[in-house]
Amino acid sequence: MYNKNMSFKIDNLSKTFGNGTKALKNVTMNFQKNKITGLIGFNGSGKTTTFNILANFIEKHEGKFTVDGKPADKNFRKKLSYLAAGAEPKNPIKVIKHFYMIGELYGLSKDMVDEKVKPLAKKMDFTEMLNSPIKSLSKGNQQKIKVISSLLNPNMEYLFLDEPFDGLDPIMVEKIKKIFMDLKNVTIILTSHRMEVVQSMCEEFFVLKEGFLVDSRKTDDNRIFIRVNAEVNIDKILKMEFVQSVKKEKDYTTIIADDIKYFKDVNKELIKSKDYIYSSLRDKNIAESVFKGEDL
Ligand SMILES: Nc1ncnc2c1ncn2[C@@H]1O[C@H](COP(=O)(O)OP(=O)(O)OP(=O)(O)O)[C@@H](O)[C@H]1O
Ligand SMILES: [Mg+2]
Repeated sequence: MYNKNMSFKIDNLSKTFGNGTKALKNVTMNFQKNKITGLIGFNGSGKTTTFNILANFIEKHEGKFTVDGKPADKNFRKKLSYLAAGAEPKNPIKVIKHFYMIGELYGLSKDMVDEKVKPLAKKMDFTEMLNSPIKSLSKGNQQKIKVISSLLNPNMEYLFLDEPFDGLDPIMVEKIKKIFMDLKNVTIILTSHRMEVVQSMCEEFFVLKEGFLVDSRKTDDNRIFIRVNAEVNIDKILKMEFVQSVKKEKDYTTIIADDIKYFKDVNKELIKSKDYIYSSLRDKNIAESVFKGEDL
């Protein structure tokens, strides 16, 4: 059924490269419209390959990819901006000229490019470098070129960000994060090895491992975990509607409840026993915990 929040959907995506490497194995993911979704995983897990397939840089693959219920086509790609990973090529031309060239591809005049570039350059402490040759800039400053380039498409509704913060200092990361998060009506997919960035920017993230989709999570998971001694009587707690599940092990029982806001109710029952350990996901970096393979 058509779901109006469904932006795009990947169904059973698989990719085997000519040398036999299976980079993606039956990956199915749904991305929500106008949200930022993360794609995380170890080096070589298939993140960039996913982007390259969706952006049509890799044509040969198995599985399908639909946008708002229809197969992705040229029209989708017109609305797509892709900040690809990797270094800028050693380029002798001036930064601003580079932007004019990209603008031309989108049918933008120099004035229109200036109008877009100047406020971004200002926010990114980059104004003075607009007239420098690209190859003379430091790595982080070259990364800013990629960030600005990714924001020049006047038809942008989809934005793929592959390691957009590569080489940037922490203050600049915060500034650029804000630029991306302030975009309106743009559906963003982000890969990053910085888990604090994924946790703070994304509502949801997918985890790839050796080409398989192995997990997907919401970053605002508010569940609470209460571990009690196995002898504690939890009959009353089990009846509480917000208790999601109870895991019984030899020496202890773990109660998993919906939301931290119910903690008091659960706690009232348990306080009598004193013998419990409480933990909450609220303040946890869920992306980092999942990446490290912690049992959440
Ligand atoms: N053109 C290619 N030919 C052969 N194998 C490739 C090619 N491109 C990627 N691969 C392989 O596909 C797998 C997935 O690579 P991919 O670049 O998608 O990983 P990634 O998750 O983006 O990793 P990273 O975090 O290092 O950027 C890896 O095993 C990689 O070596
Ligand atoms: Mg990659």
